[in-house]
Amino acid sequence: RMIMKESKTIGVLIPDITNPFFSELIRGIENILYKENFITMLCNADLDQEKEDTYLRELTRRGVDGFIIASSAISNESINATLKANGHPFIVLDQKKAEGISDAIITDDYTGGQLAAQHLKELGHEQIAIAMPKNAPANIQKRLSGVRSIYGEEQIDLVDAELSKTGGRAAVPAVLKTTATAIFAINDEIALGLYLGLSEAGKKIPADYSVIGYDNIDMCEYMVPQLTTIAQPIFELGQITAKMLLERIENPSKDWEERMLPVNLIERFSTAHLN
Ligand code: RIB
Repeated sequence: RMIMKESKTIGVLIPDITNPFFSELIRGIENILYKENFITMLCNADLDQEKEDTYLRELTRRGVDGFIIASSAISNESINATLKANGHPFIVLDQKKAEGISDAIITDDYTGGQLAAQHLKELGHEQIAIAMPKNAPANIQKRLSGVRSIYGEEQIDLVDAELSKTGGRAAVPAVLKTTATAIFAINDEIALGLYLGLSEAGKKIPADYSVIGYDNIDMCEYMVPQLTTIAQPIFELGQITAKMLLERIENPSKDWEERMLPVNLIERFSTAHLN
């Protein structure tokens, strides 16, 4: 079959290599690319815009066949200047917002936020804290919109937290100042940090605070108590992303495609009924 160039290499740009969400995503991507005799070239951006731009330019210069972009630090300006202008195929997902300029794959973040909120509501929690970054990427903002369709503004305490374990741990003092009885960690990494911070403060999960996460990374089952979370189909997300990009490489002029994958609630032991 016809492939535009011969490097048989796909560049993948992610924001944080230490987060298991992205390792699992890459496993899914690599699973398909390997079968199709492509090499996966991984670039970790560490949320650094300059690094992102350099990677984009360098990968282009080296004749990479296509790009998978999961990081919001890549601006549309550099995409337009480096990729679009030169007709390089790419697909965006996760933290990189789909804006009708390429193929895109998303997961149902709005429903994910709703499911998390509904679960806490059914357990009798009337005041909840949400640990998330102030300037969160669009996919994460949608989770918040989902919660807002279930809880009123006055029932929600927004607590600023970076998307990392450190961020979760550091958010605990702010959580303790609220009257919340449950915490929605906008990703599982934050939940991991909350576990440590809450235990350092002498608080028990779920007796003192119910905690629900987001992503369903494999670590959730190894936490004590095992973490209730919203599962994204992470491996499959990677697989479908790779497939869509390869289809684009084969057929550059077809219409843009946007796909959405479902999420679901996984009930474990970190959430409980309010007594
Ligand atoms: O854990 C990383 C988070 O950032 C995930 O929720 C993923 O969807 C990304 O947005």
